[in-house]
Amino acid sequence: MALSTPIVAGNWKLNHGIAETRAFFGDFLPRVAAHTGGTIAICPPALALTTAAAVLGSDSRILLGIQNVYSELTGAYTGENSAAVAREAGAALALIGHSERRHIFGEQDDECGRKVRAALDAGLIAVLCVGETLDEREAGRAFEMVERQLVTGIAPVQATELDRLLIAYEPVWAIGTGRTASPDDAAEMHAKIRTSLAATWGDEGAALPILYGGSVKVDNAAQLLAAPGVDGLLVGGASLDPAGFAAICSARG
Ligand code: PGA
Repeated sequence: MALSTPIVAGNWKLNHGIAETRAFFGDFLPRVAAHTGGTIAICPPALALTTAAAVLGSDSRILLGIQNVYSELTGAYTGENSAAVAREAGAALALIGHSERRHIFGEQDDECGRKVRAALDAGLIAVLCVGETLDEREAGRAFEMVERQLVTGIAPVQATELDRLLIAYEPVWAIGTGRTASPDDAAEMHAKIRTSLAATWGDEGAALPILYGGSVKVDNAAQLLAAPGVDGLLVGGASLDPAGFAAICSARG
């Protein structure tokens, strides 16, 4: 199920409740009615997934995603979300290892790998998020950190599952800060990530879509999509507004 690019995914984080989810789609859907080429995905809070799926009905142009899953599909894990239930609720993809998960909730690289495995086992597309902090970048260790997250996160993936794997490069210093990586910064890291993927899986690895995320807005979306090797965008704050997010979805590099 290769997704057509550009892939523009919205990550609502802990924003938009159930009524707001309905209102968002009521406004957003007509704005993207003529959208062609490329893939649109939205990751609402887990509790709003079924509402989003009900509003979308049989409209399969927009994929839904969950923002995090647990590494097991069932069991005595109070309070966690199962990738299998997310799929049942209408999700097609799962974000894994978002920097807020890593930095606020202490998720480790190997745990992210297990979550990627769980997402794939549940039939979801896994979107593995990787990115360095400002300190790491300034210390000249950006790629070292990104590669460690990448290599550990993809370790449980089989070559036959590559059609359900996406990578999102999100420099932590650009998330929610208004400070965007330049298209050159994004292109440079995407190229390194692609080289690493190619070292693991050859041409098929090199062909995996890599999204950029971090302060993507209407004004910079086209420029970022034009950067070599940027196959899509992961959009946080700017995905909350239906008009703005629809404009980002139709941006072309
Ligand atoms: P932002 O968030 O667009 O608000 O910077 C991006 C993300 O965290 O995925």
